[in-house]
Amino acid sequence: MQSKLFTGLINAALLGALGAGAAGTALAAPKDDAGLAGFKASFRDKNEATVDRLEQSEHQRLCTQDAQRALKPAQRKQIEQQSAAAVRYPAEDKFMGDWKEGEKIAQNGRGMQSSDPKGTQAGGNCYACHQLDRKEIAFGNIGPSLLEYGKLRGGPTPEMLKYTWAKIYNSHAFQACSVMPRFGAAGILTEQQIRDVMALLLAPESPVNR
Ligand code: HEC
Repeated sequence: MQSKLFTGLINAALLGALGAGAAGTALAAPKDDAGLAGFKASFRDKNEATVDRLEQSEHQRLCTQDAQRALKPAQRKQIEQQSAAAVRYPAEDKFMGDWKEGEKIAQNGRGMQSSDPKGTQAGGNCYACHQLDRKEIAFGNIGPSLLEYGKLRGGPTPEMLKYTWAKIYNSHAFQACSVMPRFGAAGILTEQQIRDVMALLLAPESPVNR
């Protein structure tokens, strides 16, 4: 999904540039025109990286249709509401798994790449964007630090379980054009993997909260 969004951004930039070149002044809104067709034709399926990823969801299209102009508040709200309504909560209200497995998933950046053989189960790559365990010194800062995530928010209360699950399942439910991958909605992580990452964030004994 990340690459889906990434490609969306490239499409927007590419077509913005084409529009600027042609018109000389205002940037044209990206359309599925010859430029985009050429862009799509230059890729092919390889292992886990498939060209269908260039097809944006309706929400992604709205978020990238005009990179020069922010979405209207009503459009943002609609994306957030539709995303929230489509969140699938875990079977039997079992929100938490094993934090040790969750830590492995958070560290794992494999999956959905051309170097991944078909059938590779993707990881979450959470450390690429978030600080989590204070012992891990290699982490990105695109997202906020999640150190003491559960501790600072009163632990795994019903509200926190529900919010955190929905955020991981589809980040657009709270932030229309979030760059955080939609781990559940885009089928990146399984329900059990999300449970394990949930435990990493919320279990009191997890290194995130100790
Ligand atoms: C590409 C970067 C990226 C990746 C990878 C990523 N996130 Fe995020 N995440 C963000 C950004 C940016 C925000 C804050 C803005 C927003 O809400 O979208 C965020 C917000 C969050 C929040 C909300 C924090 C709060 O204070 O409410 C949680 C929880 C979260 N991420 C968990 C995760 C987990 C778990 C993973 C791995 C399975 C993960 N993220 C992977 C970018 C990322």
